[in-house]
Amino acid sequence: MIKIYKDFFDSDCLEYIGKQIERSQHTSNFRSSYPTINWGERIVQESAPVMIYDMVDPDILQKRLKEVYPTEKDMHFMIYYWPVGSYVAWHPDNHVEMTASVYMNKYWNRDWGGLFLYEEGDKILAEIPEWNKLVLQSPPVPHASTPVTKSYFGSPDVDGGWAYHEGVPIIRTTIQIFEATEEYKHNHRMSFKEQPAGAGWVKGESFAST
Ligand SMILES: [Fe+2]
Repeated sequence: MIKIYKDFFDSDCLEYIGKQIERSQHTSNFRSSYPTINWGERIVQESAPVMIYDMVDPDILQKRLKEVYPTEKDMHFMIYYWPVGSYVAWHPDNHVEMTASVYMNKYWNRDWGGLFLYEEGDKILAEIPEWNKLVLQSPPVPHASTPVTKSYFGSPDVDGGWAYHEGVPIIRTTIQIFEATEEYKHNHRMSFKEQPAGAGWVKGESFAST
């Protein structure tokens, strides 16, 4: 089931996120969606590597999320940076009971890809990335995100958003959240184990992505 919350994080949470983004820009401590590290080939397919930063001490975000999703379990918060050509193939995330995304680009044009697609009955619906919008899945439903076609942009006031903002490139940025169940923790401990290759996800099949 999908729930959408606009303007989800308050100013304290957003300040923390801003500091984490800044911190991530001064570290080499990135993971990536490269298939041999964390993600299976079936979900990566031809995607450009997504860069992943594990957020440090995200207590303030946990507290906010637990207001709409009460749980005793911890949650894993990551920042994802999406270059041109990155996407996520259809997958179920049925290794967790809850997963969520928050879109962190202040402006996003739907022509730039990165749409969140999900199944509802026999339809495929889409959510357009919007600043500070939470898309929460509990339990997760089959979903995907479409290929990013533009990852650096500026204010829509400048050249319609096609120029860099004050000369500083801003890449498509999301926050990804997973409820840390025992199975999820196990998958993370096992993240260096080789994962089976395949042509794509078959509906009903279970496999993990983070
Ligand atoms: Fe997912």
